Amino acid sequence: MSSKVATGIPGLDELVDGGLPSERVILIVGGPGTGKTILCGQFLYKGIYENQENGVFVSLDESRDHFFTEMKKFGWDFKKAEEDRKFAFIDATRMSRVAMLKEKLYKEESRSLRGKHLPVDRLIEDIQAKISALNAKRVVVDTLAALTHRFLEPVEKRNATVDLIESLADLGVISLVTTELGYLGLERHALEEEFLVHGVIMMQTLFSGATTTRAIQVEKMREAKVNPSLVPYSIGQNGIEIFPNMPLFGNK
Ligand SMILES: Nc1ncnc2c1ncn2[C@@H]1O[C@H](COP(=O)(O)OP(=O)(O)OP(=O)(O)O)[C@@H](O)[C@H]1O
Ligand SMILES: [Mg+2]
Repeated sequence: MSSKVATGIPGLDELVDGGLPSERVILIVGGPGTGKTILCGQFLYKGIYENQENGVFVSLDESRDHFFTEMKKFGWDFKKAEEDRKFAFIDATRMSRVAMLKEKLYKEESRSLRGKHLPVDRLIEDIQAKISALNAKRVVVDTLAALTHRFLEPVEKRNATVDLIESLADLGVISLVTTELGYLGLERHALEEEFLVHGVIMMQTLFSGATTTRAIQVEKMREAKVNPSLVPYSIGQNGIEIFPNMPLFGNK
């Protein structure tokens, strides 16, 4: 049994039976602009300063400067955390592009070199090195969608996804991995990666007439007694706050 990790997101621990499971991979699924990156930044920052758990942020789509600037708006100074060797930022935006090119070449040269070995192994080695260097306990990968978008063939998307999630699960730390949800509706097909991970948290924007509400739901969390309700959350100056006891379209 893994122990509980305090998320640093007001209201979230309450939904997941006191905290997220340590040493597991949790998927954060959401549409564009739902606050996935903010939630993950908050999780790492609070981890560092409230729980003395160092963190690693792996960016597959945004530059380091962009991340630092965005997070600073909430008062989260990751530059300082990095200088104090409590935090590391891995810019994997370029690497994943190069890896894909390399894979294409290998594929043409020799089929035996396909798949597993290429993009993800290299990234995992980098993550592992940072975890050891900082004795980090929390990892974020933002966003899986940027990695899978680079592959044209479904089988290769799947290989990269499985490789990344399985490798993260072996790291001995908790990982939050974000991914995108293209379409929203009452009925939706589960994403393939949802079956591979230990837990799934879904963030979305709901529309009711002229009103929009941000809503979050713990869709799955193995071994935990979760509150599976869809509940409202807000994004404000201090980051994300979840309101587990508030009705979705109620008066605030
Ligand atoms: N101070 C703030 N107050 C209210 N909302 C804010 C504030 N700062 C950012 N936001 C909102 O946060 C959202 C962006 O958050 P974030 O970048 O984490 O989303 P995301 O899900 O990662 O998006 P993407 O899919 O583009 O990566 C935007 O909708 C923006 O309006
Ligand atoms: Mg984002």
